[in-house]
Amino acid sequence: MYKILEVKELAASIYYMVVEAKRVAKACKPGQFVIVRADKDAERIPLTICDYDREKGTVTIVFQIVGAGTQMMAALKAGDAFHDFVGPLGCPSEFVSEDLETLKQKKMLFVAGGVGTAPVYPQVKWLHERGIDADVIVGAKTKELLILEEEMKAVAGNLYITTDDGSYGRSGMVTQTISDLVGEGKRYDVCVAIGPMIMMKFVCKLTKELELPTIVSLNPIMVDGTGMCGACRVTVGGKVKFACVDGPEFDGHQVNFDEAMQRQQIYKTEEGRAFLKAKE
Ligand code: FES
Repeated sequence: MYKILEVKELAASIYYMVVEAKRVAKACKPGQFVIVRADKDAERIPLTICDYDREKGTVTIVFQIVGAGTQMMAALKAGDAFHDFVGPLGCPSEFVSEDLETLKQKKMLFVAGGVGTAPVYPQVKWLHERGIDADVIVGAKTKELLILEEEMKAVAGNLYITTDDGSYGRSGMVTQTISDLVGEGKRYDVCVAIGPMIMMKFVCKLTKELELPTIVSLNPIMVDGTGMCGACRVTVGGKVKFACVDGPEFDGHQVNFDEAMQRQQIYKTEEGRAFLKAKE
């Protein structure tokens, strides 16, 4: 059992949990995920790691209620425990294994959308701890849905907040801010975009035009995270890949987003059904 040490509701239906998971905390790297199960009969939920503390042996996860499994997780309180907390799984972010001196020469831009801010955070933090300050754009629908602003501010070189409705920070989509920054003369060598599929699709469309190499994380299309369900099957550069086994990060300019989103829709419906059933 994996004890929950802290629970916070960051925004409506978005939860932050610090979990005691010594082995995961010792081995995990930015970009990797865990599979969580509230109890032995609950569905498996894959979640990208938001933070970890190797000394304390804790791992932080952030999730949004999207169905029965996450609803069950949200009912847990500090002192409760997860039945399963398996990981670290998936490949770490590519830059983690790059030569540090080469990495220091690169200007990196991170683009986070909604709950995607959580997996972006450990990547920016990892770089910051090595003396590399990346620029970060965080987008949310409204001010109320913005998460981890203070945490991100502490590790980002420059932090740009944008809300779709203009209720806080800049106004508009993250793509507008990317265009604005490039228009202001900012130059980047690589972009990392994590958020809803539709956001990643449009970021990639823009960065392709800007000839800015872009990495995306396909965590949103994972369902069981085990390579068994097939939900995360995606075509990347004409080849079939599984986000949970081959990713979750891929070259965004090679991803067939439309196909992946179609697949995601089907599973969303199934998850929706399971949610309704659980409420009966
Ligand atoms: Fe089920 Fe990858 S999430 S196969």
